[in-house]
Amino acid sequence: MSGFPGELVARLRSARRVAVLTGAGVSAESGLPTFRDSLTGLWARYRPEELATPEAFAGDPRLVWSWYRMRRDAARRASPNPAHLAIARLETLLPEVTLITQNVDELHRRAGSRDPVELHGSLFRSRCAEGCGEHESGVDRELQAERLPRCPGCGALLRPGVVWFGESLPAGALERAQAAVLRSDVLLSVGTSHQVYPAAALPALAASAGATVAVVDSGDVPAGAAPGAYHLRGRAGELLPGLVAAAYALKPAPPPVR
Ligand code: OAD
Repeated sequence: MSGFPGELVARLRSARRVAVLTGAGVSAESGLPTFRDSLTGLWARYRPEELATPEAFAGDPRLVWSWYRMRRDAARRASPNPAHLAIARLETLLPEVTLITQNVDELHRRAGSRDPVELHGSLFRSRCAEGCGEHESGVDRELQAERLPRCPGCGALLRPGVVWFGESLPAGALERAQAAVLRSDVLLSVGTSHQVYPAAALPALAASAGATVAVVDSGDVPAGAAPGAYHLRGRAGELLPGLVAAAYALKPAPPPVR
């Protein structure tokens, strides 16, 4: 007896295609703050309109870069936790697992996930603010020297390679995510408040196409976010390794060495 709903475990065991959607909660046990926790969340402490919009960057690029530098340093210091590792392990067990993440911390890649769809970009990429393309090299060195990084192509400012409010998602990312969700047998939605679209629409899209949907979250799930979904309430770093182990009759992987 695993303690997980038997039907969910059976569906996962027989699934050939699984989609996993993740949000900030999957990195919480790595010590990175979520956005909407009422005390520790980034949006409880900072104003998104001052830090995460094109207008904010145009008005005060130094302030915006200092915030992203802080987040970049924090993500670099953090390590993948058992939830990231369980998803990477799932990828080795099934013919098709598509990981779709809203996170920009790259912890999934560091856990071994092969080709995550990064809907909101990455803290570790930057691109020309005037649209020259992506130019990441030398950014850390410039930031450490308290200089604003500049595009080696045209000399304009480089900006963080993340999606800001009011911006479109990276080309092709949403299409890849939706296609994977529509052909999935099971979708796991992990550590997201389902507040930000279009990512928030993916669990309902999976359900409408007949997939079994399970939400793994330590908090409440908004009504309508995932109709008919299982709600596994608790910490992703505890529940996900257990669920993967229950479905594939594995011993849970040992915790990572720090
Ligand atoms: P949120 O901060 O909105 O939601 C985090 C979710 O994780 C909440 O539902 C928590 O209950 C849950 N949670 C926290 N700790 C957990 C744990 N240990 N195990 C399981 N669940 C846990 O973060 P996101 O949904 O990722 O966008 O936010 C979506 C987007 O809003 C972000 O990508 C960002 C933000 O504005 C951009 O910056 C474009």
